[in-house]
Amino acid sequence: MSRKRVLSGMRPTGLLHLGHLVGALENWAALQDEFEAYYCIVDWHALTTDYADPSNIKKNTFEVAVDWLCAGLDPERSALFVQSHVPEHAELHLLLSMVVPLPWLERVPTYKEQMEQLADKDLHTYGFLGYPVLQTADILMYKAGVVPVGADQQPHVELTREIARRFNNFYGSVFPEPEVKLTPTPKLPGTDGRKMSKSYNNTINLSDDEPTIREKLRTMVTDPARKRRSDPGNPDVCPVFDLHEVFATADTRAWAAEGCRSAGIGCIECKNALADHLVARMKPFLEKRKIYEARPADIWDVLREGARKARRVAGETMREVRAALKLPSPENSG
Ligand code: TRP
Ligand code: SF4
Repeated sequence: MSRKRVLSGMRPTGLLHLGHLVGALENWAALQDEFEAYYCIVDWHALTTDYADPSNIKKNTFEVAVDWLCAGLDPERSALFVQSHVPEHAELHLLLSMVVPLPWLERVPTYKEQMEQLADKDLHTYGFLGYPVLQTADILMYKAGVVPVGADQQPHVELTREIARRFNNFYGSVFPEPEVKLTPTPKLPGTDGRKMSKSYNNTINLSDDEPTIREKLRTMVTDPARKRRSDPGNPDVCPVFDLHEVFATADTRAWAAEGCRSAGIGCIECKNALADHLVARMKPFLEKRKIYEARPADIWDVLREGARKARRVAGETMREVRAALKLPSPENSG
């Protein structure tokens, strides 16, 4: 028996940050042991919102690939690939689109949310409405058993299950229904205390070097009530302490909490201790990055090889799909 498959995808938005590490990549890396893993950089999904200016997608794809490799996704064990390198995704998207009722798409919560959030872009397009159908094609192509995603993506995986069921009802049972695997996401504020997010410009990136990490922490907001070194602080309301929760050891965390409440330590000491842990955690990433950045052609080779692995499975799935639909496809004719 071959292992169950895991599939997930990420849009090529550029440099990844600590939120991506603890909210996705660490989890994806761990799943490589148990599952046959397929991780896809979804450049066509990026196009659904960035169609008016797609000029950054290629560079962003490269940066995401480097970050993936640095964070421990392993091309020996996983297929790391670009969606548009596997054109079967487009064919499956088209065929699925025939059976998806429009109201299913119109009621997906991310549809209206994203329209409102990205009000500067005209998202009244066919492609954008079909975003979750394309995602469904990504998932069903590999007959993935599990799909690790954040809670915001859960409705998309639910929809994938409904589309699989509807397809199977019409054409016979081709697709298993995938299970969602919710990634536990710790609270991770950025340097301004809001949720870490590229759009807030408050991120600590996986590609930041040691001086940059230290500088970003140095200027990070703290408990606003702790104005002077002699004022006691409250770690429960301090975003720096939220990062201690994720990246420091229990000992350091206890020392910081006690020192903060008693004004025994200052914020500078507290942040330095956090920086030491964070820098130690990121050091192996930065060392790998040096190697990859010196050999950019290797990154594209990794993605090409990933697409080759992915296409083996995609080709098989599409043969089954075409047979189920009884179309006069080349392999069904004659
Ligand atoms: N929509 C996902 C996101 O924005 C990205 C994605 C595309 C994806 N295809 C996928 C996630 C397939 C999981 C499975 O994060
Ligand atoms: Fe925050 Fe640490 Fe300063 Fe307390 S000592 S306010 S936890 S940075």
